[in-house]
Amino acid sequence: MENLVFVQPIRLVFILLVLSPSFCRISSKDASLVERVCKRTMYPDLCVSSLRSNPHSAGADVKGLARIMLELFRDKATDNLVQVKKLQKMATDPVIQRCLNVCLIEYGLANDTYILAAFKYFESNLMADALTNTGWAYDGVETCEENFGEEHRSSLLTARNNHAMHISHIAEDIMSILAEKSF
Ligand SMILES: *[C@@H]1O[C@H](CO)[C@@H](O)[C@H](O)[C@H]1NC(C)=O
Repeated sequence: MENLVFVQPIRLVFILLVLSPSFCRISSKDASLVERVCKRTMYPDLCVSSLRSNPHSAGADVKGLARIMLELFRDKATDNLVQVKKLQKMATDPVIQRCLNVCLIEYGLANDTYILAAFKYFESNLMADALTNTGWAYDGVETCEENFGEEHRSSLLTARNNHAMHISHIAEDIMSILAEKSF
């Protein structure tokens, strides 16, 4: 957890440097907005398929697309939290129990605190704060995943954790495009 304080600003600065200023001038009427936005993210294919599967992406502006990804991250985090609770009921290995408890805490914070805060800041156009809180939620998912390895166990949540992290990363990348406007 120590490095999250440093990782987030560095990631934000890096993204801001990479993005071209002309990007903000893309209008919502541009049919290829989804593709153009997604090209600026770490996972363009997942970004396009995630946005296209949501009917609200048609006609949405960049902020609308960021909101869809943030909502998707929230839904994944909630879903994974429910899954962690299910797995806890079945686990017999005390080490696995301990790992799942870490996941319960981390996903609990992500679901109940960080993602809610991210939404609040996002809607107030305080993108740096929205990014910070989304980043904390992301770090929690990463902690959940890495803890299994540290305890010499195979993670029971790898696919779910990776998917949630990728969705979070895309949401952060799109929010960074919006953050650029206020700099
Ligand atoms: C996730 O957070 C919401 C909002 O605080 C809460 O209502 C819900 O019960 C939480 N979900 C779980 C599975 O704890």
